[in-house]
Amino acid sequence: MEESILSVSSERAERRKVNPSKKFVKSAYVKSLREYNKIYNESVKNPAKFWGEKAKQLHWFKKWKTVFKYSKKPFVKWFEGGKINVSYNCLDRHLTTWRKNKAALIWQGEPEEDSRTYTYVELHREVCKFANVLKRKGIRKGDRVCLYMPMIPEIAIAMLACTRIGAIHSIVFGGYSAESLRKRIKDSEAKMLITADGSLRKGKPMPLKDKADSVLGKCRSVKNVIVCKRANIKVKMNKRRDFWWHEEMKDASPFCKAVEMDAEDPLFILYTSGTTGTPKGVLHTTGGYLVYVYQTTKWVFDLKDDDTYWCTADVGWITGHSYIVYGPLANGATSLMFEGVPTYPEPDRFWQIVEKYKVNVFYTAPTVVRALEREGKKWVDKHDLSSLRLLGSVGEPINPDAWNWYYNVIGKRKCPIVDTWWQTETGGILITPLPGAMPLKPGSATMPFPGVVPAILKEDGSEAAANEGGDLVIKKSWPGIGRTVWKNPKRYIDVYFSKFPDYYLAGDAAKKDKDGYFWIMGRIDDVVNVSGHRIGTAEVESALVSHKTVAESAVVPMSHEIKGQCLYAFVTLKRGVKKSDKLKIELVKHVARVIGHIAKPEKVQFADALPKTRSGKIMRRILKAIVEGKKDVGDTTTLADASVVKTLIREKEK
Ligand code: WTA
Repeated sequence: MEESILSVSSERAERRKVNPSKKFVKSAYVKSLREYNKIYNESVKNPAKFWGEKAKQLHWFKKWKTVFKYSKKPFVKWFEGGKINVSYNCLDRHLTTWRKNKAALIWQGEPEEDSRTYTYVELHREVCKFANVLKRKGIRKGDRVCLYMPMIPEIAIAMLACTRIGAIHSIVFGGYSAESLRKRIKDSEAKMLITADGSLRKGKPMPLKDKADSVLGKCRSVKNVIVCKRANIKVKMNKRRDFWWHEEMKDASPFCKAVEMDAEDPLFILYTSGTTGTPKGVLHTTGGYLVYVYQTTKWVFDLKDDDTYWCTADVGWITGHSYIVYGPLANGATSLMFEGVPTYPEPDRFWQIVEKYKVNVFYTAPTVVRALEREGKKWVDKHDLSSLRLLGSVGEPINPDAWNWYYNVIGKRKCPIVDTWWQTETGGILITPLPGAMPLKPGSATMPFPGVVPAILKEDGSEAAANEGGDLVIKKSWPGIGRTVWKNPKRYIDVYFSKFPDYYLAGDAAKKDKDGYFWIMGRIDDVVNVSGHRIGTAEVESALVSHKTVAESAVVPMSHEIKGQCLYAFVTLKRGVKKSDKLKIELVKHVARVIGHIAKPEKVQFADALPKTRSGKIMRRILKAIVEGKKDVGDTTTLADASVVKTLIREKEK
């Protein structure tokens, strides 16, 4: 089992409690632990009643027949018989209320002077127009549309347009390589690609269309490409296949009826790393996902109509899907989207934006907090952050030091921090404080969202005692659960429902303390959490061995001060290849080319041999121990050649 990168287990951490202020509690949706317990107990006793009531807040063309049932375990159906449309709920539903002229999306570009605000009426108009563009290009209900785009409003418009006509979007994070894009297009058989000439990164244009072009020849399913202008990069346009966004939009009609979708119709596919070299296409469906992100956004962020809410994630990740676009818009909120990075042009960019837009609720990742803490308080002090009332954290455990800085320096000791635990597969937040209800324990994601029943299991399937570590599972289904792995239901069962067939296996280790607080301790599989991004070590290994000089490789996690974890690669070169620092750099670049920058190993160590069992299996446990500098690397008796370990320790990269 992976060990925690944090020392969250200390008893002192468990005893420390931070209460929300009276002022915060006064306006909160859920105001006390007692109230939470009451809601929670009822939700678990009668989930159909609880979720049925929440679902009623949304617009259904036709009401569901059953809230929840298993089709064939573990495959589940929520709100079967119901007809609903996500785009309708995120837009049209607000147009008959005072919210029609409320800001739906505020976009801040990387250059300070680039910003745009869309009211609900305006966003609706753009979405309808683009939905008509999609239709004109032959996109129909059930077709897959791949998005490979920068953080510009058009990505949200494209998502909502897809959902309006029932097309299934599959977003590929703009930082992924062309090869990663190709794999995902191929697996989903996308009919269309929506991209941009390029994105801006610290003032520099970075190509996207060019990258896509390098693989589009191999993507037979793609019939059309729509290209947004963003970075002023010259691109080649294939006359029959490629079209400019702005030209297509010119004469598109702003009227487009939202398609009545079955609650269980597919909504989107999002690829995430797993334990093999092939990423999993997690499939989310329509009704349950929307109900789940709607309700979690409302309660976890305690979102009110006059809030300006900012989630700093990229839309290419699940956090961006659920908590920049769908959750906030379903609530009629004002959602801020930022194109740039936290440290450009200066390390106060985030705080400058908070001040500029008077952000009230701010949701980011621990890696960002740590990076900005390192830049120093002086960058924070330049700005008036008094608008903030709630802070959030996602992606990895937040270490006590970062928690304290976030709480004291950013939140000025008046903003609760919601440490939200969830995954691509869960659709929305599962373990989290409701900020007016729970005393916080820094480092703990606290308690389950109503309707969610987590447990910690030991290897034999029995429940762990208080403070005993084990596998985190979810015992009951919830509306936001990913329904399958695209085209691979067997993998869905194998990964999530085979170790403990009745429960959803999260792949994280965790423990629950005496007060019922959950402490997440890190992944149990070969997935590494680099700056909150999930990267499968198998994927990186297969990228490395695809280089002509590499015979074999093993990639393991290493603790990293800012990123939480990073990748350490052991590489065995082919016979006759000369070891050199230049080659190390080339290998790192190669990984960036094959997967993307986020997957670059921090360190590369050449190894003439790797520790293997007699049957040839690489002993990663030993490699992890070496990387973490442990004196005792554990039992080496099953190794074919135990002397290998000594060499690896001696030659370890500093
Ligand atoms: C980790 C991101 C501790 C965890 C929403 C999980 C966390 C993986 C937390 C999912 C948290 C996410 N505390 N660990 N608050 N949030 N994780 O699919 O290991 O990109 O399994 O979804 O991130 O990453 P994913």
